[in-house]
Parts: sequence; C-alpha cells; structure tokens
Amino acid sequence: MVKICCIGAGYVGGPTMAVIALKCPSVEVAVVDISVPRITAWNSDQLPIYEPGLDDVVKQCRGKNLFFSTDVEKHVREADIVFVSVNTPTKTRGLGAGKAADLTYWESAARMIADVSVSDKIVVEKSTVPVKTAEAIEKILTHNSKGIKFQILSNPEFLAEGTAIEDLFKPDRVLIGGRETPEGFAAVKALKDVYSQWVPEERILTTNLWSAELSKLAANAFLAQRISSVNAMSALCEATGANVTEVSYAVGKDSRIGPKFLNSSVGFGGSCFQKDILNLVYICECNGLPEVAEYWKQVIKINDYQKTRFVNRIVSSMFNTVSNKKIAVLGFAFKKDTGDTRETPAIDVCKGLLGDKARISIYDPQVTEEQIQRDLTMNKFDWDHPLHLQPMSPTTVKQVSVAWDAYAATKDAHGICILTEWDEFKKLDYEKIFENMQKPAFVFDGRNVVDAEKLRKIGFIVYSIGKPLDQWLKDMPALA
Ligand code: NAD
Ligand code: UDX
Repeated sequence: MVKICCIGAGYVGGPTMAVIALKCPSVEVAVVDISVPRITAWNSDQLPIYEPGLDDVVKQCRGKNLFFSTDVEKHVREADIVFVSVNTPTKTRGLGAGKAADLTYWESAARMIADVSVSDKIVVEKSTVPVKTAEAIEKILTHNSKGIKFQILSNPEFLAEGTAIEDLFKPDRVLIGGRETPEGFAAVKALKDVYSQWVPEERILTTNLWSAELSKLAANAFLAQRISSVNAMSALCEATGANVTEVSYAVGKDSRIGPKFLNSSVGFGGSCFQKDILNLVYICECNGLPEVAEYWKQVIKINDYQKTRFVNRIVSSMFNTVSNKKIAVLGFAFKKDTGDTRETPAIDVCKGLLGDKARISIYDPQVTEEQIQRDLTMNKFDWDHPLHLQPMSPTTVKQVSVAWDAYAATKDAHGICILTEWDEFKKLDYEKIFENMQKPAFVFDGRNVVDAEKLRKIGFIVYSIGKPLDQWLKDMPALA
C-alpha cells in the first residue's frame, strides 16, 4: 500500500488529500498539522473549513484510508510520498518584505523531513512557492539526509475555494514538474499514477520543475489581471454610460478571450492572488526585470483603486459624510460559498467607512463575529500601495456590530453595501428592508447581484459597479 503524508491541513491540504483518499482506496493518506485545534476539528463533525461537498468526502474515507493527526514526525517517517502544503504568506519583515514569499514554514517542514526520514521519499511541493524553491529544498534535504534519497516534485494546486471539491474531482489539468533525470522521471510517474486513478491522462501535464513552479504564479497573475482589466473598464463604464455587464459579455463572446472571470466587482480578495502577484513582482525585480515587475504590480494597484473608488462612491453619495450613519455590510467572505476572509475586499471597505466614522453592522452567513473583529483589528501590512489603513482603535471597535441576518443588519441603516455575492442576497425581501431603513435609502452593490431596477422602483437609490448611474449619483460625483 502506497503511503502518502501531507504536511499542512489547511484549505488545500485537507480537501486535496480527502479527494485523493476517496479516489484511491488503495492509498493510505495521513494529513498532519502542528495546529492541534485544526486537527481536532478535522476529526470532528465540525470541519475547520466550509466547502460545499467536503463533509461528504471526509465522512466516506476518514478512519478508513484518511487520517488527520498531529503526530507529524511519525507519519512523515512512514510515508513514501510527502506533500508539503503549508502556508507561504507574504514576508512582513526583512529582505523582500511586502513582496517575497515567506518560506519559514516550508523550510522548517523540509528540515523536519530530512531529520526524521529513514527511507527514500518523494517530496511534493503543493504550496505555491517562488520559482527555484525546489532547488533550495533539495539543498536542505540532501545536506541533512544521512544518505537517504529525495526526489522533489512541483505539483501546484489550482483549486478555487467554494468549488474545491468540484475542481479536485474534475481538474482542468494536474501539473507535475520534476527533474529531467531517470530518478526524476520515475518520481513523476509515481505521482502521475496516483492522479490517473480519476484524472484523464491528457489532463496530467508533466514539465520541468521550474515551469511547474512558475505556471502556478503565472496562472494566478493572468486570472487576477482579467479581474483588474474588467474593473478598470467598470470605472470607464460609469463615466460614459456604458454597462460593464454588456461590455464583458460582448468581449467574452470572442472565443479567443472566453466568458469566464469577467465579472466586475468591488475587487478581488482571497489568500492567493495578491500574495502570488507580489511574489511574481519580487522575482522579476530580483532577476533584473523592473519593467515586467511594474506591469504586474498594476494588477494590484487597480484592485486597490477599485476598493477605494467604492468607498468614495458611498461617502460622496451620502452627502459627503457617513459619520455616525449606520451602514449595513452584507457579506464579509472574499467570495460566496466560503467562510474564508483572507484579503477580503470587505476589510478595506469597512476600514474605509470606519475612517469616515460610520457605524457598521455586518452580516455574513459563514463568517463568525470573532473572525470579523480579528480581521478589522489586525494591523494590515502595508507595502508600497496606497491602502495602508490603520488597525481600529478601541473606540472604533465599538462602531462595528455583527448581525445574525440581513434584516437585523439593515434595520435603521442609511445604506447597504453588498460585498459578497451570496445567493441569499438576491432573494431578500427588499420592500421590507426599505421600510425599516432611514431615507433616502441607498444600496451599493459591489457584486452586481441585485436587480437594480426593481430596487429603484421600491424607492432605493442604487449604485451598481460599472452600470449607468442614476441621477442622484451623477449629481454627487465620487472624488477618487
Ligand atoms: P492554510 O493556512 O489554510 O494551511 C496551512 C497549514 O499548514 C496550517 O494549518 C498550518 O498550521 C500548517 N503548517 C505550517 N507549518 C507547518 C509545519 N511545519 N508542520 C505542520 N503543519 C504546518 O493555507 P492554504 O490556504 O491551505 O494554502 C497552503 C498553500 O497552498 C499556500 O502556499 C497557498 O498559496 C497554496 N494554495 C492555496 C489555495 C487556496 O485556495 N487557499 C489554492 C491553491 C494553492
Ligand atoms: C484562486 C484561483 O482561482 C485558483 O485557481 C487558485 O488555486 C487559488 O486562487 P480563489 O482565490 O479561491 O482561487 O477564488 P477565485 O474564484 O479565483 O476568486 C478570487 C477573487 O476574485 C474573489 O474575491 C472573487 O470574488 C473575485 N472575482 C472572481 C471577481 O471579482 N470577478 C470574477 O470574475 C471572478
């Protein structure tokens, strides 16, 4: 029986390993983590992450060929293949701070693998890492290995949160990079044999190590670039009377461009896009390519601009002040169908509104009050981009409340901001909401989820990103 161990039981390690266990009953999979609460949750009925379909997969395999444990060393020692799926956040201090990936967790995992191993192993980079990380990892492993042989593979993960199980069941591609040596080819084949249990052969791509590592950064940069492109267009649409949904549809009909990932929004969030682009920017700078670095940096700058533009639009529409006005924030997660708030645009929008002394009442179906308070009080690391908002002071904390549903959040509010595209926000009783709000009542739709015409008929003043502005908004232009 092949034994797999995955270091890191997070958003990637947990779902990915659960699907491998489900699809490969003859493989024993252990997911290990240093976080005791995380592992306890994986072994309970309340999994540590919300992901549609995940519960079902875990229930089918847990205790059979899928195990969650804090005994990291034991499972690493026994494994034939060790996946490393630890976090690789942006460095916050020292050389490359604000851009480079922090590989502290990766390095300590690699040192531990070298320390505890008593047999040859394939070590798989599942985390997103800078190009050439495999070379550094090889050095750590071989310098500490006591004669044991390690083969390093790069097998980046392309799942998106909210659709992780679907993406893992039917990936567009699985990418495996390895050394172009007989041992390297054999290691690639061993990993390919795992995926080929359910992924068609033509979707398993094999490349050299550096192409695999760079492809992950490139894919995220291209995806984020599409969003920044459509968001840049949304500003021009508002200025000209064009409708961004119509523009995206027309542009996406070109088969060379395609229709996906062209939804204008308040800005992209999530743990990957910003971090991976910053990482790419840093790698370009280190390789003497400042023009290329500057090109990709613009993707983040437009994303920051879009969040700032949204806050400015709210403030200017409401007579240039939201001081002491109640604003309901519907949605805090970075996208629907997840409780994840990492880099969610809601943090910047809320901090922007609090900066203008608004009182905000937040409702999200999956994000806890504790998480929201933590996100809003955390000191956001600022690199050289404009949104260096300060953490909230104790007085500002009092300006934030968390509601148990959308009706409670919007009661007596002056305005509503929709920041996550949860399906339930489309189906709310907006007549009832309107009755219970201060007048004039505003809706600022950061995800284009509501039927703006219907809401206008009820009496709301509605702002939808990238859509023609109504007279009220035209009369109160937002200052960028
Ligand atoms: P995460 O923070 O949810 O999980 C990482 C886990 O690793 C944590 O539970 C942490 O306790 C554990 N860990 C850290 N150091 C450890 C060590 N030395 N030993 C044991 N456990 C350790 O992160 P994530 O979202 O799963 O992301 C993991 C990697 O995958 C990152 O590099 C990320 O860029 C990449 N990625 C993430 C996504 C996504 O959608 N979240 C998608 C593709 C790729
Ligand atoms: C992303 C990549 O899609 C995935 O392949 C990679 O493995 C991890 O990073 P994720 O961040 O989980 O996945 O979600 P994604 O669906 O890409 O959305 C990222 C952000 O972009 C969200 O805030 C989302 O709301 C926003 N978005 C997405 C838009 O604003 N418009 C779009 O058209 C699509």
